[in-house]
Amino acid sequence: MSDFYKKILDNNKKWVEDQLNNDPEYFKDLAKSQTPPLLWIGCSDSRVPANEIIGAKPGEVFVHRNIANMVVHSDMNMLSVLDYAVNVLKVKHVLVCGHYGCGGIKAAMGNASIGIIDNWIRHIKDVYRLHHLYLDSIVDETERFNKFVEINVKEQVYDLAKTSIVQSAWRSGQELTIHGWVYGLNSGFVTDLGVNFSSNKDLTGVYQLNFE
Ligand code: CO
Repeated sequence: MSDFYKKILDNNKKWVEDQLNNDPEYFKDLAKSQTPPLLWIGCSDSRVPANEIIGAKPGEVFVHRNIANMVVHSDMNMLSVLDYAVNVLKVKHVLVCGHYGCGGIKAAMGNASIGIIDNWIRHIKDVYRLHHLYLDSIVDETERFNKFVEINVKEQVYDLAKTSIVQSAWRSGQELTIHGWVYGLNSGFVTDLGVNFSSNKDLTGVYQLNFE
């Protein structure tokens, strides 16, 4: 066994010990149920761990992660997580968190073929195409990269708002706000991009669903 592999097994034992020292009922209580107030949709990047960044404890965040924190409305995995979070767990917030320096976003800006992931990256390229006039006008490549990261998060928030799941929750008066953040790998700080929606009224007409 590699040292790393041994270490993570040992870490787990130590972690259990620490939790039980702190509260002997910790796991018994946690096992009863979960009522997380937040669904986190983030990037798979190992440097952007949902709970740690926001100081959340087990039980506080329902998590979905994929490459470049995408909300692809035909992705059964994302839809299942979203549906369960909104309709069963009744989360109050859904948060899309992108990050500067995202490899998925970088790949979408380039032309290299990486493999099967090219097909996933295409969803990100579609976002670039929507904003290509603005993005192509940014001469500095790092600046263009950063803006694309931010624009992609905003588009994923809109894509969340377009889902029947989110619109149906709003229609029935459920308290649900969706947000977009960007995390800075260099600083550790997140930036709220100010795309906080709690109704479908800001959606382009064709995307607004009527439920009657
Ligand atoms: Co990433």
